[in-house]
Amino acid sequence: MPRFYTPTTPFRFDPMQPAPTPCLSLGIFVQCRPGFEPDASLELHAAARAARLDGGIVEVMNSGFTLFQLDTPVPRDELRRRFDLSRLVFSRQGFQLAAHVEDLPDKDRLSPLIKAIAGLGERFSAVLFETPDTNEGKQQSGFLRRFAPVLEDALSKAGLLRGDSPHLPRLHVFLPDSKRALLGLSLGSEASAWPMGIPRLRMPGEAPSRSTLKLAEAILSLLTPEEQKASLRPGLLAVDLGASPGGWTWQLISRGLRVTAIDNGPMAPSLAATGLLEHLRVDGFSWKPRKPVEWMVCDMVEQPSRIAPLMAEWVASGRCRRSIFNLKLPMKRRHDEIERCRALIDQRMRAGNIKYILRIKHLYHDREEVTCYLTRR
Ligand SMILES: C[S@@+](CC[C@H](N)C(=O)[O-])C[C@H]1O[C@@H](n2cnc3c(N)ncnc32)[C@H](O)[C@@H]1O
Repeated sequence: MPRFYTPTTPFRFDPMQPAPTPCLSLGIFVQCRPGFEPDASLELHAAARAARLDGGIVEVMNSGFTLFQLDTPVPRDELRRRFDLSRLVFSRQGFQLAAHVEDLPDKDRLSPLIKAIAGLGERFSAVLFETPDTNEGKQQSGFLRRFAPVLEDALSKAGLLRGDSPHLPRLHVFLPDSKRALLGLSLGSEASAWPMGIPRLRMPGEAPSRSTLKLAEAILSLLTPEEQKASLRPGLLAVDLGASPGGWTWQLISRGLRVTAIDNGPMAPSLAATGLLEHLRVDGFSWKPRKPVEWMVCDMVEQPSRIAPLMAEWVASGRCRRSIFNLKLPMKRRHDEIERCRALIDQRMRAGNIKYILRIKHLYHDREEVTCYLTRR
């Protein structure tokens, strides 16, 4: 069973753990939105059990992270084969935990860290410096800004950091506080490109609403660069269900797509001025396009159990080739709700004998919802 720790319990590793050995992992470390630790832990625990990994959850409420600590360290390659980090919904960022350094001296944090990193027995393509996404975590960020170039320089000189070798794993240096560091590894394909999974996106001045950033992040996080290039081209057709005032529509129009926006609410006049917008005041659940479109995006605030089958129907029937949509989650049992929606989508796809791709993430810009990408394989 997961071991849940209360907020007052200091975050410490099991002292019975053997010392880290080169090429072994101690656990799977996941960063999430603060407050979502129970969801991230439940999901992580279920996924670890499905991968037949023995261990337990170490969780601190409102810390912005959770850990599945292995009972016995596992070789990193084997862990990667058995456990797919990229499938975790509530993980903004994740890595295999390889070592932890305690009691870092104030005067010299560099030497013990270099020693521990050298002891991992790997070379790295990049270093991601991370802290918890909390007020305490933010206190480390000033130090990290100064410290990061120093550590990178030392690692490069030691031959451990090879910026010209993207196939190598990335090193995560996660500082929960000023005294401790967790060291971990991930591949670019299995975890977020951004430290802490937080994209630094500029709010476009012309976009009609802040939720434009949600679709911008979804495109970058849920689609490969090849998928983005192939599907977000001028002239392609898109539908936006629940589009008002037009933040998501703006993302599509700014890439040259022609958008049919479905909403009783108004659309920002600047969008109509582009000549790429058709606005229909009709119901998003019953309206259908006359011809197939490349994209259907949906941000309607509705029960997930109504949205998921609608999205599956659009993709399965060929009304759209791809979809990005939100599932607004209940306050409790969010993990269960996501599994229920997965099952609803799977049911429709199986009925049509359709192979499909479904990626689901709790994005940085998501609050009480997750964002999904669905397409035929
Ligand atoms: C969160 S807002 C969408 C914000 C939009 N994505 C943006 O970026 O500006 C949800 C919208 O869904 C619309 N909506 C809810 N139910 C709908 C339905 N059945 N048909 C069409 N629109 C609906 C609401 O009118 C509302 O404007």
